[in-house]
Amino acid sequence: MEFLSTTVKGLEDIASKEIASLGGKVLKQEEGKVYFSGPEELIYVLNYASKTVFRTVILIGEGTVHSLEDIRKFVETLDISFSGEFEVRTKRKGTHSFTSMDVNAVVGEMLLKKCPNTKVNLTAPEIRVLCWLEDDKFVMGFDTTGESLHRRGYRVYQHPAPLNPVLAALLIRWSGWRGETLVDPFCGSGTVLIEAHHSYNRVPNKFRKFIFRNLPFYSKDEWTAIKNKYDSREKKVKLSLVGIEKFQKHIEGAQKNLHKAGVDAHLYKGLAEKMHLYVSHADYIITNPPFGLRIGSKKKIFRLYENFAEELENHFSGTQFVLITPYTKFEHYFDVLEKREIMYGDLPVKAYRFKI
Ligand SMILES: C[S@@+](CC[C@H](N)C(=O)[O-])C[C@H]1O[C@@H](n2cnc3c(N)ncnc32)[C@H](O)[C@@H]1O
Repeated sequence: MEFLSTTVKGLEDIASKEIASLGGKVLKQEEGKVYFSGPEELIYVLNYASKTVFRTVILIGEGTVHSLEDIRKFVETLDISFSGEFEVRTKRKGTHSFTSMDVNAVVGEMLLKKCPNTKVNLTAPEIRVLCWLEDDKFVMGFDTTGESLHRRGYRVYQHPAPLNPVLAALLIRWSGWRGETLVDPFCGSGTVLIEAHHSYNRVPNKFRKFIFRNLPFYSKDEWTAIKNKYDSREKKVKLSLVGIEKFQKHIEGAQKNLHKAGVDAHLYKGLAEKMHLYVSHADYIITNPPFGLRIGSKKKIFRLYENFAEELENHFSGTQFVLITPYTKFEHYFDVLEKREIMYGDLPVKAYRFKI
């Protein structure tokens, strides 16, 4: 069976490694996508155990199209059969003389023709057919995930600018962290700390539901077996995880999220630029500081970055420091071990690995 998983653009190789470790044979990487093959059980494995992908899709087909008529022909030639109520959703990039809605309509119409026991349902579909049209490249698949996996199900406190948990998990893997002391000095609602604990202890995505139950491939026995297997792999190692945050409201929110996620960490209400007052040592710092785009001004943010860099230089020499930011500011202070241009939602940012 062939699959594709979506992930953060710029970190596809990190997601590929996780997919391979879960049993997928990686075929190719494209912007924000990893294609792989493997047994049917990967439907359950990827949804339940993966931390670095947003969703996993069973590939129906891919090809080159130049018009809606080409898309119609493409669907017509597919070897496909399913039943039930479905919807089609398309993500389109590039210049076309038609819209995503037009693609949805054409694909939907062809599927109704080819699979007679189906019906379109846009409010509560049992099955979601996902299409990507990027310039002339057309990809189509069955969604197995439903709501994106970045919705882990543990976030009971909603921070105004939370880090995407999939990106947090990718940064943690990219950093090379293997259970040493980890500090997030701008911890907000605690996402980095939670993802670190969950990654290390192999906590599956157990707070969630998935859409694969409605697919023609679904086997309850196979799903139960995979669920039991990954539940039994969960470890209960207590880690040295520390969060620092300026605002009491977020500290309390982080405590709620940590509790829901089953994670232990030390949280301090305080300032990142005075980090040594709370922690004497950090092997890894993984964080996303404020960008000054939504909260606060750029000038203030640069001053904060300066003070924070000084704190690191004075007290945390030798620490591995990983962060995302839209600015190059930290390059002036520390040696860059690695730098990636990544997409944080619609915002291009840089991911850095520094050694202090
Ligand atoms: C972008 S948010 C981090 C979000 C967090 N990763 C999460 O998932 O919830 C940055 C956080 O840094 C906090 N903050 C701002 N200035 C700070 C400072 N000087 N020291 C510590 N925390 C600070 C903000 O209150 C905010 O919660």
